[in-house]
Amino acid sequence: MTEQKKSSDSGKTDYKNIIVTKIANPKGLEVGKIQINRPDVLNALNIELMGELLTALRAFDKDSNVGCIIITGNQKAFAAGADIKEMSSASAIEMYIRDQFATWDNIRKIKKPIIAAVSGFALGGGCELSMTCDMIVAAEGAKFGQPEIKLGVIPGAGGTQRLTRAVGKAKAMEMILTGRMYSAKELCDAGLINRVTPDELYLEEAEGMAKEIASMPSVAVQIAKESILKSFDTTIEGGLEFERRSFYLLFASEDMKEGMNAFIEKRPASWKGK
Ligand code: CAA
Repeated sequence: MTEQKKSSDSGKTDYKNIIVTKIANPKGLEVGKIQINRPDVLNALNIELMGELLTALRAFDKDSNVGCIIITGNQKAFAAGADIKEMSSASAIEMYIRDQFATWDNIRKIKKPIIAAVSGFALGGGCELSMTCDMIVAAEGAKFGQPEIKLGVIPGAGGTQRLTRAVGKAKAMEMILTGRMYSAKELCDAGLINRVTPDELYLEEAEGMAKEIASMPSVAVQIAKESILKSFDTTIEGGLEFERRSFYLLFASEDMKEGMNAFIEKRPASWKGK
């Protein structure tokens, strides 16, 4: 049970390339859902779409009614990569000035947890986008890969870094140097994917997981996410120090008092989101 709701608004709705909705959650905060919507080009990620995606993510991040976010595509494609047609004629200096992948770095700054719900192709930038999310739920028919090598380039939105951290050097080398596609099951076994479902159930599974997270005390959820992500760019000592201070910080939250009192009084906690 939760009271951690306030009136707020997730901002604009006139997006061209994404569909933004909210899913009700009787047990907690709502789930914000962003569906990538360029089906004619297998959800290829162009600059406009990525700008919209970031705007929608930031709006959900500020919306105190939302506790967790899902990014999804359609049955055929999560996203088949960055938009090749948009990039193909650019010069190196144009790419440098556009710096289009810098937008992607900002997704990392979203405080609320993001789940990628993947069906169909998650290739190149699509695979990288799923890895930029915090968790991945995939349909068993989903195909992941980093095929950039076949275009004469390399992954440019985190593939060489995030994939390597998730699946290890040997597997990342194989994936990036061959450009092959891999099944969700193989990459689940390799540690990239949280859960593989029958094809028709991936969204339901992702929504269930998102609702469960959105029913937890939101400040602790966000601080836990921040602390886990810290482990990617610090030493173990620095990370442990960050975790410890974050743990102590949560003793300033009303939800910490409520959570511990509710346990002792043997009753369900009622979260305030403070
Ligand atoms: N960019 C632009 N358009 C794309 C696209 C992409 N990444 N992927 C697919 N499309 C378009 C196709 O051009 C085609 O459009 P038309 O109907 O106008 O010809 C439409 O989507 C359907 O695609 P296909 O006909 O190719 O569909 P298919 O089922 O035969 O093949 C596929 C599916 C294997 C995914 C194939 O489309 C493909 O190989 N796509 C490109 C994958 C890729 O190389 N991704 C990496 C991009 S670079 C990148 O992402 C850089 C980075 O690190 C961020």
